[in-house]
Amino acid sequence: MTQPSPGSDAARADLSKRPAEVAGMFDAVARRYDRMNSLASLGQDRRWRAALVGALEPRSGELMLDLAAGTGASARPLERAGARVVAVDLSFGMVQWGRRHHRRLPFVQGDALALPFADQTFDAATCSFGLRNMVDPVAALGELRRVVRPDGSLVVCEFSKPVNALWRRLYEGWLRRAMPKLAALASSDPAAYVYLTESILDWPDQAGVAEMISQAGWSAVEWRNLTGGVVALHRARRG
Ligand SMILES: C[S@@+](CC[C@H](N)C(=O)[O-])C[C@H]1O[C@@H](n2cnc3c(N)ncnc32)[C@H](O)[C@@H]1O
Repeated sequence: MTQPSPGSDAARADLSKRPAEVAGMFDAVARRYDRMNSLASLGQDRRWRAALVGALEPRSGELMLDLAAGTGASARPLERAGARVVAVDLSFGMVQWGRRHHRRLPFVQGDALALPFADQTFDAATCSFGLRNMVDPVAALGELRRVVRPDGSLVVCEFSKPVNALWRRLYEGWLRRAMPKLAALASSDPAAYVYLTESILDWPDQAGVAEMISQAGWSAVEWRNLTGGVVALHRARRG
């Protein structure tokens, strides 16, 4: 969820989101990634992941793909809810860290734009805080559609735009001003959070993401705001 840099600006991704840079940034931050998520979200991340599991309503044994799974922070609760989950991520560092800590979860290093799975392999697919980092999110959503069976579901969990104007101003002020201070306290590289703030502010609002999901061929797209719209959960079906 958070995007700290690995200690030098040279390795930090920017809004061009070049896959090699994005992967390199996450390789380098994998070790502290989960702890920084909890800090930066002020503990809200657990609620967001619980809502993601609720939206997917996993039935026992269902096969789910967690794209851009990172260290498995969303895949784990899904697995605990009874699903069989395959966790895919571009960053070898994140995959390695995930494998070490969640031994029962199968992790695969792979790119969202060329998933190493046959058509219609999964009952459902999900992506939490990953889509925003991709150079072509509509193409990635199309790849997800390819590997999900007809009538299967998609849930995207991503930072979004608070709907209340005052809450939005407070939140964006927090992102711009408090986040660097928090990073200075908790990270050896305060520049780390520049990409996080830039990429969140640059990302489309709830309706914009719904449009991307529809463009990729998904049907029945709907969304639900979490924490007043700081995060949105989009749900869709493969018609
Ligand atoms: C902010 S982390 C989210 C990790 C995890 N889903 C979570 O909720 O904590 C974003 C992840 O997206 C992955 N990612 C970025 N571009 C990707 C791509 N093209 N294919 C697969 N994973 C990608 C990164 O490597 C990183 O682990």
